[in-house]
Amino acid sequence: MIPLKTAREIAIMRENARILNEILGELLARARPGVSTGELDRLAERRVREAGVRPAFKGYKGYPATICTSVNEEIVHGIPRDDRILNDGDVLSIDIGIERDGYFADRADTVIVGRPREEDLELIEVAREALERGIAEARAGGRLGDISHAIGVYVLSRGYNFAKRFVGHGIGRAMHEDPQVPNYGTPGKGPRLREGMVLAIEPMVWKAEPDETPEEEERVLADGWTVVTPRGQRAAHVEEMVLITADGPEVLTATAPAVAAARPGL
Ligand code: MF3
Ligand code: CO
Repeated sequence: MIPLKTAREIAIMRENARILNEILGELLARARPGVSTGELDRLAERRVREAGVRPAFKGYKGYPATICTSVNEEIVHGIPRDDRILNDGDVLSIDIGIERDGYFADRADTVIVGRPREEDLELIEVAREALERGIAEARAGGRLGDISHAIGVYVLSRGYNFAKRFVGHGIGRAMHEDPQVPNYGTPGKGPRLREGMVLAIEPMVWKAEPDETPEEEERVLADGWTVVTPRGQRAAHVEEMVLITADGPEVLTATAPAVAAARPGL
């Protein structure tokens, strides 16, 4: 069952998304060469507590931190560590979730630490454009498969590949509600999209090797969390919460000014 949010619930979720955005924006701006991902996690936890909200990831299925910090070939669920020092040119994705007043917010963005390489700018551009294409299909009366299909075909058309075992999701009273939102699918198939649904749409992409098939999958490391690309390529992960309205998709987690400031050149 896919929950439909009332106006009251949407007001709470909009405020939660705003709080989350402010924190994520600051974290991305602080991601500089010489900073450790452990430091970013401590800052995240401090800001989350100061905002009077609860970190949603910490303790979730035993996850040990407030944020996920996935560097270079790590796609998602990288665990912050004090000995993981960011280097010039690293590709860093930060994923963060909070809970307040019984409702969850979840968002991720990817930035380049220090001076960017041309191919990493393209990587982030492909992830962001895939997300935009998915968001554009989040329309009442459409089908879930329209969103998934739009993401998958775009990523493949750019010569990239995407995560298959990790998907987007409904969000609200739980961090993960129905439906699952895969990054590939069939247009016109799947649940009907309706006003009041809130979906976390989250493409996870990497550049495909010349002999890589679209079926090739991400792997999970022995720590049980960190997900990496099949051939060690660098990955990007972007996630937004999207509300389906009568007037089309509304991105609850619209980009905070600090996020834009953290990505000069984009
Ligand atoms: N943002 C992730 C998601 O959408 C959740 C991170 S998993 C956690 O599924 F364990 F870190 F919480
Ligand atoms: Co998510």
